[in-house]
Amino acid sequence: MASTPVTEDQVIDALRPVEDPELHRSIVDLGMLKAVQIRDNGVVGVLVALTVPGCPLKGEITRRVSEAATELDGVESIDLEFTVMTDEEREKVRMLVHGGGGSATAGANQAHGHAEGREIPFAKNSSKTRPLLISSGKGGVGKSSVTTNLAVALAEQGYTVGVVDADIYGYSIPRMLGTDRDPVVIDEMLVPPAMWGVRCISIGYFVPEGQAVIWRGPMLHKALEQFLTDVFWDEPDFLLIDMPPGTGDIALSLAQYLPRGEVFVVTTPQPAAQKVASLSAAMAAKVNLPVRGVIENMSWFTGDDGKRYEIFGSGGGELLAQELEVPLLGKLPLVPELREGGDNGRPITAVDPDSEAAQMFQQIATKIAVDMKPKKVFSEKLKIL
Ligand SMILES: Nc1ncnc2c1ncn2[C@@H]1O[C@H](COP(=O)(O)OP(=O)(O)OP(=O)(O)O)[C@@H](O)[C@H]1O
Ligand SMILES: [Mg+2]
Repeated sequence: MASTPVTEDQVIDALRPVEDPELHRSIVDLGMLKAVQIRDNGVVGVLVALTVPGCPLKGEITRRVSEAATELDGVESIDLEFTVMTDEEREKVRMLVHGGGGSATAGANQAHGHAEGREIPFAKNSSKTRPLLISSGKGGVGKSSVTTNLAVALAEQGYTVGVVDADIYGYSIPRMLGTDRDPVVIDEMLVPPAMWGVRCISIGYFVPEGQAVIWRGPMLHKALEQFLTDVFWDEPDFLLIDMPPGTGDIALSLAQYLPRGEVFVVTTPQPAAQKVASLSAAMAAKVNLPVRGVIENMSWFTGDDGKRYEIFGSGGGELLAQELEVPLLGKLPLVPELREGGDNGRPITAVDPDSEAAQMFQQIATKIAVDMKPKKVFSEKLKIL
């Protein structure tokens, strides 16, 4: 066993790799580790400052800190106490991870553009995030279900993923994803809750249960802007946007905020739905964003007899894809488990990965992430003379 007692510095070094479960940064770098005290018999006192009182992830932090500390020779157990950061400390954390310019890696750049606000990080040319706008011409075709399951599939493939529920009046992502808590606010920075590896923001977190959102024009605009700027997204690989049905204000605002967005149109198989869906493509043209693919949903139902029944007809997805000259990325079956998973926050892609629907979501995710990965654009400026 260890003959020399452990030092405070050794404990601090051992705790350096421990990350805050929400901010994904070292608790030492974040200033959360307040004090370390070596006591008798291998007991180490540790004081951790939580970013906010009643931090929902206190248990997880306890587990991580204990595990890392007791791995050290000479540390038998820890006596962990918690305190809460002051406003100034929280401001420092926010500056450190979110900066003034919306990107953690950009350091402490001051915000450009309008004085009070920050830039939309996803609008920058240097952004590595691909915004995927999941849209359709009419309601109820499965946009939110596709958004949720596609997000889970991408996360399972190892990508970092965020979801913006842009359906302000008909929000549904928190329920479908099954997030169990609200965003945490650190000095006006919103830390989104995560579930199945997917972070999510929705107006649903800000309105009392059962109450309708009655905002119009400018308020809607402001809310969406905040979803993109004040939320700590931490440069995910993908940001999926669950679009509201139709071609209203929200679509126009989003297009303006996400000039690098890629539109994916969800449709059902009947040719009539395809006509409506083409409206959505017209919208994409109007806002000058490219449609990259079509996803057909509710394509068939497999009966007890093992036969596929095409309840909503067939061919709609192919027709639309042809018309738009984009690929049909996949056809999803109609399965009760998919609806149930949406109702109880257990997406089929997460809980039944071998099912036909989950496999299809995985295939679509691979097509988008790998086959449709943007090629590096040659830049004149980079030419070595
Ligand atoms: N492939 C499917 N199999 C079974 N049920 C499905 C499938 N796709 C969607 N559903 C169900 O159909 C309903 C509508 O789907 P969803 O809410 O995803 O559509 P939407 O296009 O987002 O609707 P809205 O326009 O209201 O936002 C939900 O109850 C959902 O669970
Ligand atoms: Mg929806």
